[in-house]
Amino acid sequence: MREELDLLLADIASRTFETADQVEAFRVEFLGRKGKIKDLMAEFRNVAPELKRELGPQINKVKGAVEERLAIEQAVFKKKKSAKASGIDASRPAGGQPHGTHHPLQVVRREIVGIFKNMGFEVVEGPEIEDDWHVFSGLNFPPEHPARDMQDTFFVERNPDLLLRTHTSSVQVREMEKRKPPMRIIMPGRVFRNEAVSSRAHCIFHQIEGLYIDENVSFADLKQTLLHFAKRFFGPETKIRLRPSYFPFTEPSAEVDVYWGLETEVDKRITKGTGWLEILGCGMVDPNVLEANGIDSKKYSGFAFGMGIERITMLKYQIGDLRLFFENDKRFLNQFSGER
Ligand code: DAH
Repeated sequence: MREELDLLLADIASRTFETADQVEAFRVEFLGRKGKIKDLMAEFRNVAPELKRELGPQINKVKGAVEERLAIEQAVFKKKKSAKASGIDASRPAGGQPHGTHHPLQVVRREIVGIFKNMGFEVVEGPEIEDDWHVFSGLNFPPEHPARDMQDTFFVERNPDLLLRTHTSSVQVREMEKRKPPMRIIMPGRVFRNEAVSSRAHCIFHQIEGLYIDENVSFADLKQTLLHFAKRFFGPETKIRLRPSYFPFTEPSAEVDVYWGLETEVDKRITKGTGWLEILGCGMVDPNVLEANGIDSKKYSGFAFGMGIERITMLKYQIGDLRLFFENDKRFLNQFSGER
């Protein structure tokens, strides 16, 4: 009988079940009125008394093994049954890997560039490591001029003439060197400033620069172009205003605000109570800049503008902290999966 019990234990462990009916048949086979456990008990009664102490626990072990398997298998088939009832097909192959999503800055960059391309602007890029001429001197920043301090610059230690560009305006200078007017170009890229990282500032961010040079380009052209952009980007009802400002490379210079609204407490807070939000800097290219780059300022005039992609993205999607763009937290990034 000892051997028989061992064989039964091995048998119970090796059983496999395809259906709930098979599980039920297994239960009947062992625990039923004419089942194997009953037979064992009958046999046990005839066992010599000195063996009963050893075999009794063994029989209980077999019974326990049957009950354990039954509990597990019954639970498995019960789950499958309820999955089926709820319409879940557990036999369906697993879905593929989820697709990645475009970064919100990329989504906005493409949208802005697309709007200007439709107006006939051509996209160009320039180097991130620059020299003093392209970032400052060629843009009418005199040496030692305090306007250079408007932007805290990262210099290359070995060669102080080399630096990381602080704005994409440097690409304007590169293109003026290369081309002859008329030119209508849009210049997206990464820029660097030696600034402490906070919710509103970062040492690395992105800008989009625009430049249009031709005969008779006027301030009205600038305003109309930017109004068209704002309406396409923020919606057809968008209102803009231009405020006088200062940049060494434009004269006159302006900053452009869009009307945000003053209805909610949030509106009041982010617009500092004015209802308006600044989106970019712009102006008529200073004749000094044209001349410094070999363009006849008597014949040609032009306008330029520059905007921060992070800033515009924060406005469009109401994002409160710039650092989110650089952390690559999927919970943040996946919210833009619907954007093209
Ligand atoms: N370069 C300026 C900045 O980084 C932005 C800017 C202002 C660009 C006026 C322009 C412009 O082209 O005309 O703050």
